[in-house]
Amino acid sequence: MENMKGFWVIVVMIIVLVSFFMLSRYLVKRVEMGEGDMVLPVLDEEENVLYESAAKFRMHMKFLDEYDDALAVAIESQNWDAISKYAMLLKNTSPLIFTGKRKVELPKEFVLLDTSFHFQSLAVVEASESREMVRLNIEYEKLQQTCDECHEKYKKKE
Ligand code: HEC
Repeated sequence: MENMKGFWVIVVMIIVLVSFFMLSRYLVKRVEMGEGDMVLPVLDEEENVLYESAAKFRMHMKFLDEYDDALAVAIESQNWDAISKYAMLLKNTSPLIFTGKRKVELPKEFVLLDTSFHFQSLAVVEASESREMVRLNIEYEKLQQTCDECHEKYKKKE
């Protein structure tokens, strides 16, 4: 009888140990999976929605910014040749193409903001051809708004 008791104690202990072992394996796995999800930074995933390469996109944006600054200087000094030149350079850039993605892969609103940038840069080119300073200033202001609108929505605030 004494022997049987010892036997059952051992059986129960084995069952408890085995289930404890399995449970801990299961918990470790859960934690690992959880960590796996967190390793992909949420920010990167968001960035991938917009472009293949953040570095390339930013580099292009810097060129856009330089043309835009040069255009502002040209307008300030009423240098019509420079105005035409930078207006054309701006018109030929495209935030959408900078993304390296196809239209269908991008958020609809981003595509719309890109379209309004194109529309407005064309208006600046036309104003530069008309050589009417007042009209040019108005169209240039509106162009700045298209930059701002897109940045408000898609550029992260530092
Ligand atoms: C359709 C959208 C869109 C339009 C239009 C647009 N931008 Fe941008 N721009 C962006 C996004 C998105 C970023 C943020 C990129 C990042 O840092 O991930 C950006 C970033 C920038 C930067 C910072 C680049 C860097 O080095 O981080 C500058 C400067 C800039 N834009 C200038 C302009 C100017 C000037 C215009 C208008 C003439 C303009 N952008 C129009 C989307 C746009």
